[in-house]
Amino acid sequence: MRISFCCSDTKPQPWVDGLKAAFPDAEVSLWSAGAEPADYAVVWMPPQQFFDEQLKLKGIFNIGAGVDALMKLRLPAGVPVVRLDDAGMSVQMAEFVCHAVIRHFREFDGYEADVAEGKWSYRKPRLRTDYPIGVMGLGVLGERVSRALAQFDFPVNGWSRSPKAIEGVQCFSGDVGGQGFQDFLAASRILVCLLPLTSETRGIMNMDTLSRLRTGGYVINVARGSHLVDGDLITLIDNGHLAGATLDVFHVEPLPADHPFWKHPKITVTPHTSARTLREESIAQIAGKVRAVERGERVAGIVDPLRGY
Ligand code: NAP
Ligand code: GLV
Repeated sequence: MRISFCCSDTKPQPWVDGLKAAFPDAEVSLWSAGAEPADYAVVWMPPQQFFDEQLKLKGIFNIGAGVDALMKLRLPAGVPVVRLDDAGMSVQMAEFVCHAVIRHFREFDGYEADVAEGKWSYRKPRLRTDYPIGVMGLGVLGERVSRALAQFDFPVNGWSRSPKAIEGVQCFSGDVGGQGFQDFLAASRILVCLLPLTSETRGIMNMDTLSRLRTGGYVINVARGSHLVDGDLITLIDNGHLAGATLDVFHVEPLPADHPFWKHPKITVTPHTSARTLREESIAQIAGKVRAVERGERVAGIVDPLRGY
């Protein structure tokens, strides 16, 4: 069996070494133009040339949860694309989002500012019932995040395309713009985006949808930058409808030095780090799935090219 590794933005050698250890009988190599055809590809944002040349693939394994970069390419017809299915990401995402929510809800920014001025001052405790949280996307990550938030007794709403039942979470479903979506937004004050980026979800956080959140709303985007219309967020923060945002993902990454998000006092920026790909867990998951595919079994995490996730 031949496995080709082709990832931009990732130090390749530890991956190649890890894949060699997981597949002792396979030939594992770092892809270069003109390389021999492989059976399986392990990729992250590969160039189109990779797929134009690799014509014998039996499976494409993405070393991330989101496949939006892959879906923009011409992929070989009928070859399954398999995304990471948690692989240690959901616990990271839960801790990141809980931290962002609690930091906002408990006003830690305000306390830090007070302490910096040597002030010992209390703020009036806020009521959880005044801070209902809406999680868009109830897949592998969104479900874990909404359960974690519910553990802190926040009212949690969730929205997904198909109906779900999650203990402690009021679940809404349906299409973007449909009644379920409108009801979900109206019931939420803090909005967390954990959707895949598709033609339906691009720009989903915009003037219209963010205006539907309760006044004093707060946005946490941990999915993709293109889910958000940046200028609409800034307008709604500056006019007081929204209290602020924590943003981990951006239209262009790294976030350009002159982007207004960097210096906005009510926006917290992190460098696309809310849930990192963990190499060992990911290789173990991919190795298990390649073996299952070789046995003719169906594996979890196969992307539906029509849905785009
Ligand atoms: P997933 O398991 O595929 O879940 C996606 C969820 O979104 C599902 O609940 C799905 O609904 C829902 N959804 C998709 N399209 C929709 C639509 N048009 N309307 C309503 N709901 C829709 O994905 P995941 O593993 O949770 O990952 C989610 C995203 O997180 C990834 O695509 C990636 O972009 C992002 N991510 C970011 C980081 C980071 O570090 N910032 C790390 C990992 C992942 P159904 O359940 O009905 O299909
Ligand atoms: C990271 O953003 C991922 O999609 O895994």
